[in-house]
Amino acid sequence: MTTTIPRPPVVVTGAASGIGAALVRILHDQGVTVIGVDRIEGDGTLGCDLADEVAIAELVNRLPAQIGGLANVAGVPGTAPPATILRVNVLGPRLLSDALQPRLVADSAIVSVASVAAHNNAQHDDSLELLHRAQSADDIDAWLESHPIDGTAAYDTSKRVVVDAMMRRAAALLGSGVRALSISPGPVETPILGDFTATMGQHRMDRAVATVGRHGRPEEIAAVVAFCLSPAATWLNGIDILVEGGLMAARRAAELHIDATTSAPSTQSPTSGGSTS
Ligand code: NAI
Repeated sequence: MTTTIPRPPVVVTGAASGIGAALVRILHDQGVTVIGVDRIEGDGTLGCDLADEVAIAELVNRLPAQIGGLANVAGVPGTAPPATILRVNVLGPRLLSDALQPRLVADSAIVSVASVAAHNNAQHDDSLELLHRAQSADDIDAWLESHPIDGTAAYDTSKRVVVDAMMRRAAALLGSGVRALSISPGPVETPILGDFTATMGQHRMDRAVATVGRHGRPEEIAAVVAFCLSPAATWLNGIDILVEGGLMAARRAAELHIDATTSAPSTQSPTSGGSTS
């Protein structure tokens, strides 16, 4: 008779709402033990403000010695102040990933939710490099002083940094048995969507729907995150996975003047625009 050793719990941030809550449901259905983390404490969810370094250190002390995976899902949109965006979307996941990395068991993964908005980042590589090195809220504030940007730009840049940070982490972790990758959704029907509409404009949201037929559902993103966290995904590493119903493909085809109905070059002009959400 063989006995299966239960996998240690998977930590999911942003567990109280939207994509994070859907991920918790999917993992539970798969029999995976989950420790949720969110600004809002709840049943099975530890309270932690991921903008606060001290709170993150306290959270880490409460988490078990062995972790079966980490999903950095929590995030704030471009309606928040730029400092909050960079702290929650960039610094929080970095500090949590750094602290939990040594506790991750073999064949596990760190998966961070980025966004197609990463493609809108306007910061140069040198500026991004400084942000990659930020280790504290003070570093974030200093970066913002030398790079004054609004919330929308901060959101785009935060997601660019998330994508690149996971690629870097994957390279650093090669051979350890722990993978790292990011997932980039397009617009998804969650409470945050209204904020994206406010910062990006109704017309861009409407255009995304016109292109792919509808917005994504939280479960459609969470299912991909759950797969990436699972040992079945052992050969997926260091990449960013677009989960957006074909939005970027449609835009690229338009840029290339490809007629979607025939895959042949068309005579129409492209209808591209910034990436949504
Ligand atoms: P949501 O608003 O439903 O969930 C975000 C969760 O993060 C909430 O439970 C919130 O309490 C938590 N959170 C926010 N600030 C926090 C903090 N300081 N400390 C701890 N927890 C905090 O939004 P959704 O859509 O589920 O977002 C999840 C991720 O997906 C975010 O990183 C977002 O940027 C990303 N995303 C969402 C898209 C969308 O259209 N909904 C599109 C592309 C990316």
